Amino acid sequence: MNKVRVIVPASTTNLGPGFDVLGMALNLYNVFEVEISESDETKIEIEGEGSDILPRDEKNLVYQCAKRVFEKIGEKIPPLSIKIINNIPLARGLGSSGTAIIAGLMSANALSGGQLTDQEILNLATEIDGHPDNVSASMFGGVVISAQTNNGIAYMKLDMPKKLTVVAVVPDFHIITTKARELLPKTVDIQTAVFNISRASLLVAGLATGDFRLLDISMQDKLHQPYRAKLIPGIYDVFESAKAVTENVAVTISGAGSTISAFCYDTDACAIGESMCKAFMKHNVKSYSLILDIDQEGTRIIKL
Ligand code: HSE
Repeated sequence: MNKVRVIVPASTTNLGPGFDVLGMALNLYNVFEVEISESDETKIEIEGEGSDILPRDEKNLVYQCAKRVFEKIGEKIPPLSIKIINNIPLARGLGSSGTAIIAGLMSANALSGGQLTDQEILNLATEIDGHPDNVSASMFGGVVISAQTNNGIAYMKLDMPKKLTVVAVVPDFHIITTKARELLPKTVDIQTAVFNISRASLLVAGLATGDFRLLDISMQDKLHQPYRAKLIPGIYDVFESAKAVTENVAVTISGAGSTISAFCYDTDACAIGESMCKAFMKHNVKSYSLILDIDQEGTRIIKL
């Protein structure tokens, strides 16, 4: 085999209290075709989101990640022909770079005979992305809980018995994750820790049982959102605007932002999206909403 197509879902992470732990895959996909090239040069084509700014040389993240796999198995990377079709907006907290990392690692692993296990790929992906929540959700699909250990990432995928719709409201500005991480405190007090543990535990129980009654409380957070709120104009009005539509909704920053995710029933999704975009507009922020489902399958890899 010398060509693969890798389809990788977007992710919304943290889900409020699960900072760097909880991730959910969404049915919005970046598509990557990676081929061992006949010529002796690597060629990279990019279409869609970020095609005007992403590098088309060996600095490209997909290529860099493919190279890591060949290094790990002690082989020289062959010249590659890479085609990237990006549908996930960049630097908006929807895990776009996580998809590039997974695509680079998984395509190179497939093209080199599948020597690395999923666990090794996830460990490597986490090392590259700096946190496991986006890459584990994109890789496995559904809602994934990840814990960093001395022996790599311990993870579990939740079996969700009930559907939940995600309204992702994407504003027209970027947030760079590393910058948004610099705003966070180095330590927190015990009450803050307990606040987040209690919410994250309720959230996992609610998602696993399909009992969404406490979803709003379960998605409260004190670890990262209060510090990142200043990066997103009108954030609390946007939160409130979703709650003005229905009480059956929970709203969080998606990953490090700038997207805001509302978790709701599909019948409320359109009205929630409209209401949140209007609230952003009052703060002179243009935005659009995507109505998404949870992707349950994770990364698909197709031999071509
Ligand atoms: N857990 C990460 C963060 C996700 O919040 O910084 C970044 O997309």
